Order: sequence, then structure tokens, then C-alpha cells
Amino acid sequence: MQHDTVATQPIAGQKPGTSGLRKKTRVFMEPHFLENYVQSIIDGIGGVSGKNLVVGGDGRYFNDRAIQVILRMLAANGAAGAIVGQGGVLSTPAASHLIRKRGTAGGFILSASHNPGGIDADFGLKFNGANGGPASEAVNAKIVEATTKISAYHITTADDVDLNTIGQTALGEMSVEIVDPVTDYAALMDSLFDFDKIRALFASGFRMRFDAMHAVTGPYATAILEDTLGAAKGTVINGTPSPDFGGGHPDPNPVWAKTLMDEMYGDNAPDFGAASDGDGDRNMVVGPHQYVTPSDSLAVLAAHAHRAPAYAKGLAGVARSMPTSGAVDRVAAAQGIESYETPTGWKFFGNLLDAGRVTLCGEESAGTGSDHVREKDGLWAVLLWLNILAQSGQSVAQIMEALWRDYGRCYYTRYDFEDIETAKAEAVMDGLRAQLSNLPGREVAGLTVNFADEFAYDDPVDGARTEAQGIRIGFEGGARAVFRLSGTGTVGATIRVYLERLETAPDALSLSPQDALAPVVSAALTLSDLHNLTGRDAPNVIT
Ligand code: G1P
Ligand code: ZN
Repeated sequence: MQHDTVATQPIAGQKPGTSGLRKKTRVFMEPHFLENYVQSIIDGIGGVSGKNLVVGGDGRYFNDRAIQVILRMLAANGAAGAIVGQGGVLSTPAASHLIRKRGTAGGFILSASHNPGGIDADFGLKFNGANGGPASEAVNAKIVEATTKISAYHITTADDVDLNTIGQTALGEMSVEIVDPVTDYAALMDSLFDFDKIRALFASGFRMRFDAMHAVTGPYATAILEDTLGAAKGTVINGTPSPDFGGGHPDPNPVWAKTLMDEMYGDNAPDFGAASDGDGDRNMVVGPHQYVTPSDSLAVLAAHAHRAPAYAKGLAGVARSMPTSGAVDRVAAAQGIESYETPTGWKFFGNLLDAGRVTLCGEESAGTGSDHVREKDGLWAVLLWLNILAQSGQSVAQIMEALWRDYGRCYYTRYDFEDIETAKAEAVMDGLRAQLSNLPGREVAGLTVNFADEFAYDDPVDGARTEAQGIRIGFEGGARAVFRLSGTGTVGATIRVYLERLETAPDALSLSPQDALAPVVSAALTLSDLHNLTGRDAPNVIT
């Protein structure tokens, strides 16, 4: 078998501090682009000679072609073996589990998560390490450095590997094992939850709708919810993955999961609704006429996790990303366990999970997970909810009412201002940064600022410091506004404004979130001068 070395120049352009690379699909399809980045990963992780690696993606356009290239490059770089999901498909949490279960040196995950797919949409690739989680900051820095120094890549000349037939094959001297993408993951879920209780819940007539958004979770959800747990046929909708996600935007939030929201807010709504994203790591939960914010969902899971066998002994601690609401902190305080506040991005949970300091973690952006893998896990969150509902005999509404009564309610919303010219977005952040020290004591929109800072994080496990992670402005009474720039967009800059307000008065627990948050929204927009600096009157997306 012939191995070629192809001369190249740095072209990948991964930004420091980001995990993996997301670009327009056509960019990834340009000559040598994918190859260039794959070799940079290989060089950045110290080579793959003699190593085994997992390879799989969310099935979006170009997934299968990219996997053939990755396999040929792994072979040329001396890898011992590749474990690949059938058809090239693995959800991100399933890939994380496979890396851990099979003890591989890591894995290549192909996905642009919740971004649309297709030749004119987005593609992405990232490397996860041996713990199953996104490459650490240190490894990422090495990959970024490799992208700037690369001069050649190695690739084997060979025919395509048949990705569709389960079993063992080979590519030159490298073994290739094609595995069913669902089996191991489903077994893991069975080991965590009380499947008999959930089966009994469905048998009693409990109705659910799961919107797979034409993305990777379809086969997982159908196998687990319908075939194993006995949910009625048709519980899973949009369950057949397609390379462009049915032309949709596979982001499970009230805006993009509109079909599900309409049903859950309509007459005869099912008892429970849920959705997950392109690669299956995000989730949305909604009860009849009741959307559950991801921040509240994390708090519910923390408060009730002991109802599921895997968490019966209680939680070691919890962690949330900084912009996530403080709801889970209040649950943690009541349980006497630590609640860590980390920068945005799942990689910051890795050390805490590995060190056994936290069991559950989550982000306001619809990600929740636990120490069972090292990624957020959409279907896992849905199954934990089902286990809680089955075990407690309560409805979503009763669970939420009790959460707010016992811990107070953190009203929450996020405004996204997308595709802003980078210089204008920077101007908003610089403007805020410049006034931080003058803000405390200032009154705006009837609220008094009591703290303002730019979030920096010292990792409690390895001591690494991460700076400039968003601007926090706290108000007396427990309201907060957070500003940060998105690190995952592919066009221009996105400013995210996260708005939250704690309410503990019993008669103020069922306000409309818009009403409850109006003063915080107004204070945030005034202080940032966002409208003037960007020319934007309104956010593109409110979640
Ligand atoms: C977004 C979310 C963040 C999440 C990331 C990857 O990043 O806000 O919580 O970890 O996607 O799913 P952002 O675009 O805000 O940088
Ligand atoms: Zn995702």
C-alpha cells in the first residue's frame, strides 16, 4: 500500500482557545483543507503511531467523504486501528463513551453540532482525548500551533473502506472495526437508569414526543424510547437523519424546535416533550404548556438525580458554565455540595469530572451531562427526566412548581445578536470593559449594580488560568446580565447577552419571563449601548 507525503502550507486557521474547527462545508472541501487540519491534529497530539482511535460524526453532508480521508491519513501516520460507527455515524456522547469503553487514545468527531448542514452550510471536526472529552486547553494549544507550522501531510492511496458492513476490515496495516453506533450507548443508559420504572410509566399511558430534528439522535431515540422502553410508535418524530437535517436548524430551542413547541402548547399536548441537536449532545425539555429553561432543567436534575440508580448515593458536586443561571447553585447549597462556575464550553468540566469533584454539569445552551461520559448528552438528560417522572409520580408542572417554591425561581433569557461586524462587537465589549470599575453603585432601569467584572477562571484541579470569559454585571436583589462573544459562529461575530433574575416571593413565581426580566434587559442594553454601537434594534434569536 502506498503512502504519500503531500507538501502543504498552514491553512486551517483554528483560533486559539477554541476546540476543534468549524467552517463552511465548502471550505472543508477545498483541496488539502481537511487533510491539513487532520495532520495538524495528529501532529498536535504527538502522532498516532501504534494508537487506536474512534472515528464518527453526526452524518451531515461530507461526513462520509471526510471519514474516508481521515482513515487513509490515520493509516499513513501509522495508527494501529480505527473504530468507526456504521455508516460513519456516532452521536458525540456515543463517541465519548466508545473512546472510554474501548480505552482508545481518543477520537475524531465530525460535527458542527447544532449548526445547519449541507454543502452551503457548516461542517466541523474536533479531537477528543483518552478520557472521552474535548481536548484539553493544553492539547488544543498544541494543535493550534501545529496548524501554523504544518508543511506536509501523509495519506495512503487506497480504495474507500466499506463503512456500512459491521465487522473487522483493514486499511493497509491499520485495522478498521465498524460497530453499531447505538448498541454500546444503549447498554450504558440501561446501566444508569431504572428502565423497568420507565417502561411501567409508558405502559400506564404516559405520552411523550421526542423531536430528533432529522439529526443523529433519531436511531438512538427510536431504539431506546420506542423499541426498549415501550413508548408508542411515533413518539420519535423527525427520526431519520439526513445530511442537511431536513433543511432545518438542528438546535433544540423553542425557536428551532417549533413543531414540538406547537404540539406541547396545543390542545391534547403529550405529558412530556424533548428534542436534541445535530450531534446529539444538546437537549430541550418541555412539559404541557411549559418550556423548561436549560438552567432550570439542570437544577431539577441535581435536585432529583438520586431517584435514578446511577446517582442514588447523591452527587459529589455540580458545575455550571458562568452564563448559566444560579438555580443549580441553590440546589447544591441545600444539599451541602460544591457548585463550580466554569467558563463556557464543555472542556472546562473535564478536570472536575475526572477528579471526581462533580457528578452533574450543564450549560444554559441546552447541554447537561454527568460523569458517565465526557461530553454533554442529550438523550441521557431526557432519560434522567423520565426516570425522575416515573419514580416521583409527578408531572413536569409539579416538579417545576416545587423547584421554584423550595429554591426560588431564576427567571432567565438569552439574547443573541448574530453576524455583527467583528469590530463593532469588540467595541461593545471594550465599552463595557472600560466602565467596569465605575459600575458598582450605579442605578440603571431601577436596578442598582452591586458588582461588575470580567470572568476569569482558575481550574481547581490543574491551576490553569483562563481569562476574558465574559463580562458579568450583578444587581442588588440577585439579577445579573452577562455579555460574551460566541466562539462557535462561522460568520462575523455573535454577541450573547444572558439575563437572569432571582425571585423568591411566593406570589411572584409565575410571572411571564418577559415581564420578570424587562428591567434587567433594559439595564443591560443601556449599559452596553449595544443598539448604537451595532446598529441592531433587536436580537436575531431570543431563547
Ligand atoms: C455555544 C454555547 C456553549 C457551548 C458551545 C458548544 O458556544 O454557548 O455553551 O458549549 O456552543 O456547544 P458559543 O457560541 O456561545 O461560544
Ligand atoms: Zn451539539
